[in-house]
Amino acid sequence: MAWIFGLVFLLLCLSTASKAQMPGFLSLDCGGTEKHTDSLGLLWTPDDQTTLGGTVAISTPEEARMQYRTVRYFPADDNKYCYTLQVQNRTRYLVRATFLYGNFGTSDAYPTFDISLGASYWSTIVISDENTIEVEELIFLATLPTVSVCLSNATTGQPFISTLELRQFNGSLYFTTAETQYFLSLSARINFGAESNYSVRYPDDPFDRIWESDSVRKANYLVDVAPGTEKISTTKPVDVSYGERPPEKVMQTAVVGRNGSLGYRLDLDGFPGFGWAFSYFAEIEDFHSDETRKFKLFIPGMPAISKPTVDVQENAQGRFRLYEPGYYNISLPFVFSFEFKKTNDSSMGPILNALEIYKYLQINFGSKDASIMASLVSQYVQADWAHEGGDPCLPASWSWVQCNSDPQPKIVSINLSGKNLTGDIPLELTKLTGLIDLRLDGNLLTGSIPDFGECINLESIHLENNQLIGTLPSTFADLPNLRELNVRNNKLSGVIPQGLIDKHISFNYEGNADLARKRNGLNHTVIIIIIVVLGVSVTLAALVTCFAFARKRNKSRQNGNIATIQQTKKLSTYFSEVGTESAHRYALSEIEEATGKFQKKIGSGGFGIVYYGKLKDGKEIAVKVLTNESYQGIREFLNEVTLLSRIHHRNLVTFLGYSQQDGKNILVYEFMHNGALKDHLRGSAALKRTVNWINRLEIAENAARGIEYLHTGCSPTIIHRDLKSSNILLDKNMGAKVADFGLSKPAVDGSHVSSIVRGTVGYLDPEYYTSQQLTEKSDIYSFGIILLELISGQEPISNERFGANFRNIVAWATSYIEGGNIQAIIDPSLENQFELQSIWKIAEIAILCVKPQGIQRPSISLVLKEIQEAIAIEQSSGVTNGGMMMTGNSPSSSLNLDSVALTGSETQMNPSFLKVFSQPVLR
Ligand SMILES: *[C@@H]1O[C@H](CO)[C@@H](O)[C@H](O)[C@H]1NC(C)=O
Ligand SMILES: *[C@@H]1O[C@H](CO)[C@@H](O)[C@H](O)[C@H]1NC(C)=O
Ligand SMILES: *[C@@H]1O[C@H](CO)[C@@H](O)[C@H](O)[C@H]1NC(C)=O
Ligand SMILES: *[C@@H]1O[C@H](CO)[C@@H](O)[C@H](O)[C@H]1NC(C)=O
Ligand SMILES: *[C@@H]1O[C@H](CO)[C@@H](O)[C@H](O)[C@H]1NC(C)=O
Ligand SMILES: *[C@@H]1O[C@H](CO)[C@@H](O)[C@H](O)[C@H]1NC(C)=O
Ligand SMILES: *[C@@H]1O[C@H](CO)[C@@H](O)[C@H](O)[C@H]1NC(C)=O
Repeated sequence: MAWIFGLVFLLLCLSTASKAQMPGFLSLDCGGTEKHTDSLGLLWTPDDQTTLGGTVAISTPEEARMQYRTVRYFPADDNKYCYTLQVQNRTRYLVRATFLYGNFGTSDAYPTFDISLGASYWSTIVISDENTIEVEELIFLATLPTVSVCLSNATTGQPFISTLELRQFNGSLYFTTAETQYFLSLSARINFGAESNYSVRYPDDPFDRIWESDSVRKANYLVDVAPGTEKISTTKPVDVSYGERPPEKVMQTAVVGRNGSLGYRLDLDGFPGFGWAFSYFAEIEDFHSDETRKFKLFIPGMPAISKPTVDVQENAQGRFRLYEPGYYNISLPFVFSFEFKKTNDSSMGPILNALEIYKYLQINFGSKDASIMASLVSQYVQADWAHEGGDPCLPASWSWVQCNSDPQPKIVSINLSGKNLTGDIPLELTKLTGLIDLRLDGNLLTGSIPDFGECINLESIHLENNQLIGTLPSTFADLPNLRELNVRNNKLSGVIPQGLIDKHISFNYEGNADLARKRNGLNHTVIIIIIVVLGVSVTLAALVTCFAFARKRNKSRQNGNIATIQQTKKLSTYFSEVGTESAHRYALSEIEEATGKFQKKIGSGGFGIVYYGKLKDGKEIAVKVLTNESYQGIREFLNEVTLLSRIHHRNLVTFLGYSQQDGKNILVYEFMHNGALKDHLRGSAALKRTVNWINRLEIAENAARGIEYLHTGCSPTIIHRDLKSSNILLDKNMGAKVADFGLSKPAVDGSHVSSIVRGTVGYLDPEYYTSQQLTEKSDIYSFGIILLELISGQEPISNERFGANFRNIVAWATSYIEGGNIQAIIDPSLENQFELQSIWKIAEIAILCVKPQGIQRPSISLVLKEIQEAIAIEQSSGVTNGGMMMTGNSPSSSLNLDSVALTGSETQMNPSFLKVFSQPVLR
């Protein structure tokens, strides 16, 4: 392993204060070479006190600020690279890290890596284009005189950073009772009614928070604006000397709902989870004294929120004064909709000046041995290895340290061989009670060997090639697990404790002239004594031990990772999404082993063939081997993988990782035990009558949620392009997930995408087929077909099933539904176990979904709502749900199907196939 040292960076925020610098501000220009003051009056300092990592100049078309003309980057390895910043204990800070990739880097894929604050995971930085600045902000309470910001765990590309900023808060700003357990990670900070696209920040905000303008239109951000929304502003002063002290300039603008309501929808980064959410109001509009402005907050699914009435003037005790209501701990979804609605007795609509939402991020208190290690490294200020920074174990351990996998890890191994250590063996080492392996060989250590009696796990001790004096402590003999002790070539003297000789260990004391075994005899002989009956077999045993130990260490590292994820996941246990943001790379050999060299084929179509596999840890997987034509290049594949790994939803089949080796592009997904919906409607499983009507509704609801996420929760929007009943898969509990998404170009924001027509016969939107213009509405068409399948159990196209007049399900079902005879199309296997009313609801929405023109079709959110209403009808009737049926939440399924698939085996339609096939223009 190459010697890699962490990045040492001690900065005195206050000592660098100059005229241009606010006290408590630090602005680090990473990779920069000279100080400069920007147009806002902020002083930027280069991080040139470090020699670690590399620096490179970048240029981007739209960014001229000097701090964005360089980056500092680090090797993509198992180490962490830390900036150590000086802070004031017991003070709250905002820390902001930004990343502008520019044209740096030679890697095939854009970088993905983690950032952490101290030992706590902060965020995964996923770079997806060259010119967008990624920004991460966090508020924390300093509990030590320094804080470290570390980059680690590059899964693609090289970790890098553009700027690092610290902003100190005053007084009780952002105080929460949980602040010693949680950081606040910024999701949204919005200035409503902003007069330009520019953010408000320093000097308007003395704490340099960045308040984004509500007129900047980003994908899935501040959309669904309520009709009648109007901007207002004032030049009169607003009193903001209270609460979080939003800047006056932010409070001088607002939006008002002239039609009685204000509503928005936005994606909240980092959510679902628990968060801190506050709104900022000030009455800045002139109105007559007999007018009133009273309103309430509405959040779908949270009726309790709607209780309090806001009357800004009354609550703030006057006009032009801040009123700041909010929630210290509220559970929020990723796609967040909210609405302020005027009350009946109010004459005016609501007002909103600003909003802030943070996610609670659990603090990881790091290694149990952290303070011991801090004391240890403080004695070696000159040595590079003592300056790796951050916690010794988390998020990655120091290069010369290994830790176990406990949530609060302990150090199990120290390797300081050949580091020119002088003086005594540091006593701190004797306090590391978890230590298993200690290597101090090849140094210049003098003094006597201290008592390691407390380190009862020690297995291996290397002290050879030093200048240690004195006797061997007899407590070595008491270490129950000791297997190896090497003190060769020192200046030890005295008698070897009998207990050590009686122990069956590998013991080397050669080259210590005055060290003797008992009083007489062997003292002058140079011997390696291996005290077991057969020397050779013991050597072997030692080798085996070493090997086993090495494996164990590897394993404990992996466990460590898992433990960390579980910690950060705690907050979001309510939801099933996993917050990991980048793809795991599997070795081809691992995949080959899991699939028994691709033995069990479970499906095909959708870009490749799918095989069943089982990983070493028992996890079952579906392995999709892509056909060669699917991608043009490695970079394209990796970019798709990066995109895929950002898509997480409980109703989308989980993407676990990928493998790319020997010309094979492989995607790995979770295995779905109950196969495809199609097989439950028509396949072998259908004979077992596994899905009754309420189950079908729940499956439709699950799938619609997954699609809604693709359409509205992803940025840019993702159009599935190949929805069909064989792409709706069922897990152990018969919960449904959509498969095969994201393997196609994402939609350009808002508009349509033109590309080669792709889809499956019977599900293909006729409008898309003729115009080649792809929109979300093409997915709606396909989903409508699926709804008709759920009602009827029929396949979408058939020459026989639909009688003489029809060849496809749309024309057939429409004619009956419009004729009022729905009974004629209901799947006989439903056996009248349903409320006709709920079938009607689904039939009506299905007919809308398959309208010939996209514009006539509903959005997926509306479809979802109708399905939920149908479920409510069914549940309140209490007719069905007898016996064996499973819903998404029931504990386990009694089904055990022979046929399981990740995707179905319907023919994927390629363009040439389409041309010869009959016109899919239906009706
Ligand atoms: C920092 O403040 C905390 C809490 O007030 C205190 O326990 C700790 O000893 C302080 N640490 C230092 C280094 O001053
Ligand atoms: C912080 O508080 C101090 C004292 O209360 C005050 O003098 C100073 O102006 C405040 N700083 C800011 C940026 O508000
Ligand atoms: C603000 O940004 C949007 C896009 O985000 C753009 O369409 C609009 O023209 C901008 N307005 C101004 C005043 O720059
Ligand atoms: C909003 O109010 C305006 C004027 O009062 C009216 O013209 C418009 O139709 C209203 N819009 C809606 C959606 O109610
Ligand atoms: C928020 O509330 C949830 C549920 O009551 C709780 O588990 C969590 O610890 C709370 N978080 C904070 C930061 O108080
Ligand atoms: C130890 O010291 C020697 C001689 O000064 C030097 O050449 C060597 O690089 C040093 N090794 C380390 C790891 O610092
Ligand atoms: C590294 O990143 C991957 C993918 O984001 C994640 O699964 C893994 O847990 C991370 N490792 C650590 C040590 O955080």
